[in-house]
Amino acid sequence: MLNLDFHPSGRHFLQIPGPSPVPERILRAMSLPTIDHRGPEFGRLGLKVLKDIQQIFQTTQPVMIYPASGTGAWEAALVNVLSPGDEVLMYETGHFAALWHKMASRLGIKTRVISMSGETDGIPNAWRHGVQIDLIAEHLKKDSSHAVKAVCVVHNETSTGVTSNVHAVRVLLDELKHPALLMVDTISGLACAPYKHDEWGIDVSISGSQKGLMLPPGISFNALSQKAINVSKTAKMPKAFWAWDEIIELNKTGYWPYTPNTHLLYALSEACDMILDPQHGGLEAVFTRHKRFAAGVRAAVNAWGLPIQCADEKVYSPVLTGVILPSSVDADAVRKTIYERFDCSLGTGLGKLKGRMFRIGHLGDTNDLTLMGTLAGCEMGLKISGLKVQGGVQAAMDFFSSNPIPIPIPIPKPIPRPNPK
Ligand SMILES: Cc1ncc(COP(=O)(O)O)c(C=O)c1O
Repeated sequence: MLNLDFHPSGRHFLQIPGPSPVPERILRAMSLPTIDHRGPEFGRLGLKVLKDIQQIFQTTQPVMIYPASGTGAWEAALVNVLSPGDEVLMYETGHFAALWHKMASRLGIKTRVISMSGETDGIPNAWRHGVQIDLIAEHLKKDSSHAVKAVCVVHNETSTGVTSNVHAVRVLLDELKHPALLMVDTISGLACAPYKHDEWGIDVSISGSQKGLMLPPGISFNALSQKAINVSKTAKMPKAFWAWDEIIELNKTGYWPYTPNTHLLYALSEACDMILDPQHGGLEAVFTRHKRFAAGVRAAVNAWGLPIQCADEKVYSPVLTGVILPSSVDADAVRKTIYERFDCSLGTGLGKLKGRMFRIGHLGDTNDLTLMGTLAGCEMGLKISGLKVQGGVQAAMDFFSSNPIPIPIPIPKPIPRPNPK
């Protein structure tokens, strides 16, 4: 047997930027019995989640649900709309943008990678800023033959805590009358930061279950545009499992061409009920919640006097905050101390940032008090590690107490029972 439930008392604080803590309501939904994936009950579940997820992406177009992690949905997006030898423009904002590029290269797609140049204190400037529209414009203006078939950008870069303005890329493509598709990774942005697939003119949006949707890892998504569907009909990259055409057809009746991940669909149904619940303010309230959490966490980091990785406040992420430590300190050693002493997991520095920073996730099943506990764990751990920090916990308390949540937590009403005779 695995011994995962080993914490002696209290709950483990899972404050990495995904997988995020899963609400108990969702865990309970997953404990329902498995049903026949070709039976009528399943068809109703399928239709419900397919409709709900459209609302989360803010689209009326089809959304593919794959039994795969986000990486699978990246591949699905690329192979459905591209042909061997096609060229794509990819913007590197961080580790995940770089991994998407690596995948495209492995698939034999010609990639042009662009990003901000230079570095400051050993950290690439590109990994501290959002997508720079001028750089994309510079490249597309030179592409008079329209060799670039797609522009790929990451909405919320989970390795850096930067949320780019991806709508600006659509505005640019339209201004230049460039026909390239716009493909966006919103794996950690969806259901945390505002995202409007249709209104922003995104052709393929890619997302995953284990971030803002508050589900365990295991399902991922492609939201499509009519243009992307049209292009997919003649695109020649080999594809079978990922092919949209059969899935779109079967989804019309609530089924899939293969065995879907039934229990994660139960979880998705429950998560959408929670996220879209008008009593709690629906999607807009979810965005406000994450923005407020992020501001509280940044108040603490600023008080500690440590640099926030995102160097441009216009693109601060509502999902996570990257905290840069002095180059003389090993950020992973600090994380280890915080884990061992306070039972709290923080995100590690990825790729080029290994050992230079840690990431505090403020998404999933979390609230002011779990964040206060997390920040207390961080402040104590930083001090134990020899950093002279103070006042962060107080600054976050001041922020949360002077900025109340917009909709107070309702007091549960008693369940009505018939009067005894
Ligand atoms: C922005 C982003 N893109 C892609 C991925 C890869 O997704 P997965 O690990 O689910 O395959 C992640 C995972 O954290 C991510 O945060």
